[in-house]
Amino acid sequence: MCGIVGYIGPREATEVVVDGLQRLEYRGYDSSGIAVLCDGEFDIRRSVGKLQKLRERLNGEPTYGHQAIGHTRWATHGGVTEANAHPHRSTSGDIVVIQNGIVENYLALKAELTAAGVHWHSQTDTEVIAQLLDREAKASGDFVIGFRRALLRLKGGNAIVAMHRRQPGLIVAARLGNAGAVVVGLGDGENFVASDIPAVLDHTQRMVFLEDHEVALVRADSVSYQQIDGTALDKQAQTVAYDPVAAAKGGYKHFMQKEIFEQPRSITDTLHDRINLEQATVQLDSLRLSDEQLTRIDKIMVVACGTAWHAGLVAKFLIEGLARVRVEVDYGSEFRYRQPILDDRSLLLAITQSGETADTLAGMQVAREQGVPCISLVNAIGSQAARLSDGGVIYLNAGPEISVASTKAFTTMVVGAYLLALKLATLHGRMDKVTMREHLQALLELPGKVGEIVKNTTVYEELAERYRHTNDMLFLGRGINYPTALEGALKLKEISYIHAEGYPAGEMKHGPIALIDEEMPVVCLCPHDDVYDKMVSNVQQVKTRGGEVIVITTEGDTQLREMARTVIEVPATLPWLTPILNTIPLQLLSYYCALRRGTDVDQPRNLAKSVTVE
Ligand code: AGP
Repeated sequence: MCGIVGYIGPREATEVVVDGLQRLEYRGYDSSGIAVLCDGEFDIRRSVGKLQKLRERLNGEPTYGHQAIGHTRWATHGGVTEANAHPHRSTSGDIVVIQNGIVENYLALKAELTAAGVHWHSQTDTEVIAQLLDREAKASGDFVIGFRRALLRLKGGNAIVAMHRRQPGLIVAARLGNAGAVVVGLGDGENFVASDIPAVLDHTQRMVFLEDHEVALVRADSVSYQQIDGTALDKQAQTVAYDPVAAAKGGYKHFMQKEIFEQPRSITDTLHDRINLEQATVQLDSLRLSDEQLTRIDKIMVVACGTAWHAGLVAKFLIEGLARVRVEVDYGSEFRYRQPILDDRSLLLAITQSGETADTLAGMQVAREQGVPCISLVNAIGSQAARLSDGGVIYLNAGPEISVASTKAFTTMVVGAYLLALKLATLHGRMDKVTMREHLQALLELPGKVGEIVKNTTVYEELAERYRHTNDMLFLGRGINYPTALEGALKLKEISYIHAEGYPAGEMKHGPIALIDEEMPVVCLCPHDDVYDKMVSNVQQVKTRGGEVIVITTEGDTQLREMARTVIEVPATLPWLTPILNTIPLQLLSYYCALRRGTDVDQPRNLAKSVTVE
């Protein structure tokens, strides 16, 4: 997860910004940088590795100034480069930018700017923003107008902070969509900008949170706000309790709630620097297996537990469907004892948020003892699973997941598996560049679509009120959404204690249909895909037996409204990505059911966040 900190005021800005970035270290990063404005010039320092490296450079060659912006970036390149670290500067040197998020249309903007004569220094979409900002500022003759005009051309969720060397005393910041928070800290004769509360909490507890398409003009003695169209905006400051745990919750009631709403950003960070739309490639340079080794693989054994196992089932659909490589999926606790058949063309893929789950680690050991390479999809940096992954690690970059119920880890596991499937599809000659670009574009648009879903929670609160006393719930899905049904059932049971089961919908007639009556609400996942019609008939079967149906379907659906008690629509996307969009309503349903039933949402009874024992 990338970190953003800006400062403007009477103090030396460098110290304030670097200390603020230190407060965001828990988000994980591997390069950092700062731009200090002094006497009309930017002094930019960037370094790979820990913040200490940046501090050493600054101590060795001090820089002075009373306004600065800094950034920590988690790149997933094996060779993390200084050229890709933020801040990025426009060619004229007038403008510096730092960013969290993804510019979905950066390719088209880059082509336009290249045609206008821009020469590039990095592959990042951030540099596209810097160059576009420079051009719009010159065209309008005003930095702030140019800033707003440039942002209006960007698609995707972003948090953007910038300075102009000929506009001393001003830092501009904006939030677009849901992929990155922008917090303005209000001090006394000084002001701050950050991507998270902890970065400024040592200096002030008065904060303003930008909403989508809002701009902040931050000066030392004042802050003003505008809509993206320039309309003046009046924003009220909130006083944030100086409580590190509350600060870590970022204003949410529970960590689970925060982590559900954080998914546009965590998915953005999982994708960051791993997609090259221009070249239609996926970069997973953190894998240590060569392309030749990956091309030789003809069977992947996925080992995981709980939610991660559900992500593994989705991974099977993705890898077999896109790359045509065989995948077997095992619970860690089963794999370790079943004497699996492995050979020199096998690969073990461990999926684990904590990287410390004993059964999953044991599965990795079984593979290693047979000389089978291990790779992993892991969230916790430097965890045991990461260390056991001799074939390399694909980090989720989801940021710490505190709530016992896994939410953003699940969606980022699926995104990570998707990237791996696309990489393997290319290596195994199963995908041309045109098709690859369609997949990559759909991934780039994913955070915005997730953001659309989390915007409105009313329906889930109403459902939770209606089903707060129910004892059972059934979740049905087909194909790639059968694992989504399993995941929805697990979420509900583990935090609300309502008994819930997930089933492949085609199995209804082989037994579960006996459970259906008016006391058994049934959630049906009906995306507009190749098994939609089958799901519609399942909904009818449930309805004719008196069951109440809650449907999750693709927006614009016309068939299900008269059959289902509740229809929840999610944005359209490629069928491969529907498990991610469909799981968000199920997370929210479980959260609000637990809230209504008064269970301990973040620490449900009997459960631990990481099961480090058998
Ligand atoms: C998910 O909501 C559960 N908390 C649990 O099933 C979890 O997914 C499982 O214990 C695996 O944990 P890991 O991803 O850290 O390995």
